Amino acid sequence: MSIIYLFLLLLKFNSLSSHAAAASVFDTFVDCLTKNSIPQSEISKIVYTPNNLSFNSILQAYIRNGRFFNSSTTSKPVIIVTPTVESQVAGVVVCTKQLNLQLKIRSGGHDYEGISYISDVPFIMLDMFNLRSISIDTNGKTAWVQAGAILGEVYYNIWRKSPVLGYPAGVCPTVGVGGHVSGGGYGNMLRKFGLTVDNLLDARLVDVNGRILDRKAMGEDLFWAIKGGGGASFGVILAFQIQLVTLPQTVTYFRVERFIQDTTTTDAVVQWQNVASKIDNDLYIRLLIQPITVKSKSKGAKSSKSIRATFVALFLGDSTRLMSLISKQFPLLGLKKQDCVEMSWIDSVLQWANFDNTTKPEALLNRKGDPLTHLKRKSDYVQTPIPKKELESIFAKMISLGKAGMVFNPYGGRMGEIAEGETPFPHRAGILFKIQYSMNWHEEGLTAEKEYLSQIRDLYSFMTPYVSKNPRQAYLNYRDLDIGINDQVSQHSLEKGRVYGTKYFNKNFDRLVKVKTMVDPQNFFRNEQSIPTQTKQRKIM
Ligand SMILES: Cc1cc2nc3c(=O)[nH]c(=O)nc-3n(C[C@H](O)[C@H](O)[C@H](O)COP(=O)(O)OP(=O)(O)OC[C@H]3O[C@@H](n4cnc5c(N)ncnc54)[C@H](O)[C@@H]3O)c2cc1C
Ligand SMILES: *[C@@H]1O[C@H](CO)[C@@H](O)[C@H](O)[C@H]1NC(C)=O
Ligand SMILES: *[C@@H]1O[C@H](CO)[C@@H](O)[C@H](O)[C@H]1NC(C)=O
Ligand SMILES: *[C@@H]1O[C@H](CO)[C@@H](O)[C@H](O)[C@H]1NC(C)=O
Repeated sequence: MSIIYLFLLLLKFNSLSSHAAAASVFDTFVDCLTKNSIPQSEISKIVYTPNNLSFNSILQAYIRNGRFFNSSTTSKPVIIVTPTVESQVAGVVVCTKQLNLQLKIRSGGHDYEGISYISDVPFIMLDMFNLRSISIDTNGKTAWVQAGAILGEVYYNIWRKSPVLGYPAGVCPTVGVGGHVSGGGYGNMLRKFGLTVDNLLDARLVDVNGRILDRKAMGEDLFWAIKGGGGASFGVILAFQIQLVTLPQTVTYFRVERFIQDTTTTDAVVQWQNVASKIDNDLYIRLLIQPITVKSKSKGAKSSKSIRATFVALFLGDSTRLMSLISKQFPLLGLKKQDCVEMSWIDSVLQWANFDNTTKPEALLNRKGDPLTHLKRKSDYVQTPIPKKELESIFAKMISLGKAGMVFNPYGGRMGEIAEGETPFPHRAGILFKIQYSMNWHEEGLTAEKEYLSQIRDLYSFMTPYVSKNPRQAYLNYRDLDIGINDQVSQHSLEKGRVYGTKYFNKNFDRLVKVKTMVDPQNFFRNEQSIPTQTKQRKIM
């Protein structure tokens, strides 16, 4: 009896004191914002604690991975702030630092590991969704885009002004500009125009001292670092200015599905590896490799497992030129003229986002996107073609695993012309294609999660002989905490940072550390995989 009583008392005391603590954190934070010239009337509209009724809906609005949506094991922010003007962001940085809390920054919330809205230590979440203005200069062919805009809004607004101007970035319209661009940003025009950051002209960022800096004010080292080094290690990105690219009136799209029962399918995959990164830069052919269940045609017979190879293409030109390229260089694809659909660039954006061909461009303005599934992604880079025999063993492995898929994204073209040190993103010359390992599931709970995570890790491990080594390279925007994390509770370690840092940035890691040490020596802008500083840091907690 008395033990239970004591337990209840403790429980009550704990919840009381944590409420009191939350209240005092809130009061201190609000007080600090006021001192940093944000009027009380603005503060009351943009600062949320768990006591505010809409706290949960604000938090969940941009959780884009089902794994973290209903999770009771992931911790929530102490405070959420949703600035509506850029100057408020400066106040949030200064006051979070003063409270000695971690700051997590979220733009579109597409981080595959959820690290823009989850942490193991108490944190404030800065949510950028209100800052999403887009201004386009069609004469100068440039666009300023705030971090909270999603790619679909960017594409739509450019198309409204000119159907022959485009923005080279990712294929999923709900991805946020803030995380996407500062992590490099790639899409189906990569071979022609490079990454989004290869077309970056300027940026505005809030630094650790709460100053708003443009490219000139931040200097070329910091500007270099945010071109793929991940914004969250260096400051809060407010906006990016991009050089727009010129597109033809008509582009061509195709999607061809093949199955490995057809014995020429594996030969086509071999040929794709030799061709996709070398063919005309106007052509981008993505290849999806997925295990599928084939229903038997005869009644009562068992269904069997197979592998489907889906070739999805964007060609910046018409179907006649496309057919001539493919028949000369990639005959094993067996492409037919009727597979090729000519359309405007904006319709190709909708096709690549898996909308049906009756969908209007306004669909790109939908910020909610598809219903959530549970996601895990991993990445690899391939430098030498995988021989046919090895492909067959990979396919057999995938069939035995059951659900893990792979997406092959070709490089070459413009990517090979840009030096490794030009931006922090190092995966340039010599890369044939990038692999994205993908696992989607619907079942909630830890049992399902454990099974699916182990499947995708098993496939990743099986692929070791065929992918880049020393380091085994990975793409920052395909966030994968399996490849190494830094300390959250004690000080960040340079050596732990080097483990994931060289995978994401290769030789550029050291320069990123130098820039980091220069602009944020106390390591305020930190997360599970941020760039560590050179020198010993003050203990944070
Ligand atoms: C469905 C889907 C499709 C995708 N397709 C592509 C693709 O085609 N090409 C591609 O390259 N990538 C793609 N990605 C990956 C995507 O680029 C990254 O997840 C990207 O980081 C998402 O940016 P975000 O702003 O939406 O994410 P967030 O989760 O908001 O942020 C991601 C990271 O960036 C930091 N960050 C966000 N905003 C800021 C800011 N304003 N200042 C500083 N740091 C910030 C966050 O703290 C976090 O570390 C896809 C992801 C998903 C889920
Ligand atoms: C959250 O609740 C506090 C206390 O009731 C209130 O002052 C504030 O305006 C609320 N915030 C928002 C954004 O509604
Ligand atoms: C979260 O839980 C609700 C209520 O149980 C459920 O309807 C919803 O599908 C869940 N969402 C995800 C993404 O798992
Ligand atoms: C749209 O797709 C359907 C079937 O997928 C096809 O029959 C039709 O011709 C397509 N329409 C256009 C305009 O491409």
